[in-house]
Amino acid sequence: MSDTPKRVRVPDFADRKRRGEKIAVLTAYDATMARLMDRAGVDALLVGDSLGMVVKGDSTTLEVTMDMMVHHTRSVANGTKRALVIADLPFLSYQTSMADAVRNSGRLLAEGHAAAVKLEGGRSMFDTVARLVEVGIPVMGHLGVTPQSVHRLGGMRKLSMSESDRLLEDAKLLEQAGAFSIVLESIPAEIAKEITAAVAVPTIGIGAGPHCDGQVLVSYDAFGLFDEFVPSFVKRYAELGQQMTDAAKAYVDEVRDGRFPK
Ligand code: KIV
Repeated sequence: MSDTPKRVRVPDFADRKRRGEKIAVLTAYDATMARLMDRAGVDALLVGDSLGMVVKGDSTTLEVTMDMMVHHTRSVANGTKRALVIADLPFLSYQTSMADAVRNSGRLLAEGHAAAVKLEGGRSMFDTVARLVEVGIPVMGHLGVTPQSVHRLGGMRKLSMSESDRLLEDAKLLEQAGAFSIVLESIPAEIAKEITAAVAVPTIGIGAGPHCDGQVLVSYDAFGLFDEFVPSFVKRYAELGQQMTDAAKAYVDEVRDGRFPK
């Protein structure tokens, strides 16, 4: 019997929702961390354009390019046996034209070995999502605080009830266009609950309360690796950043005083 775990596929997301099973998603950017999270049984690894901030050190996600996304997506796919690999379409890779959206999504699947792409936006993305799905590319939507609109939003802050009033309709439109799931970021828990009840596709929350069908966290936040700023909704499951600094310090000390190598 093979010891290769059964791969999570796009249709499994809807099955999970029908069965009332929660979906656990983390972000990943390289093969080694992907392998460790895959072994833990995470359902999907999102190659987020958050890599611009946590890997590249930028202050927003806006400078991430298609070539970077393809490079990191391929690395994550190389380290993954079980989890569904979903890749973010970076800023201006899909908003500019339908042809760009199809070509760039295709690159993430063909060159990056992702199984699905994620894009930000609701009603304005209806035609794009429908076209991508039509050509065979599964799409995850992303509503609420959408980091590629950081300047329009005036920063990365939780949306108020009044700012969230169009989200239910946006979610229904994404579902209608064929999105297989929808990330809800930094919106009131009551709105996330309403959306989750109204659509058949799973909602994946981040800072959107406990009622979503699944949750996603930026792994660097969850494991305590990124401490430039920590969003209030983040739970730190480890303090690997401190452990790495301690380990590096022990190494530096041992090299300097001749204890390593023996
Ligand atoms: O880029 C990213 O990591 C994301 C998640 C925060 C959902 O979009």
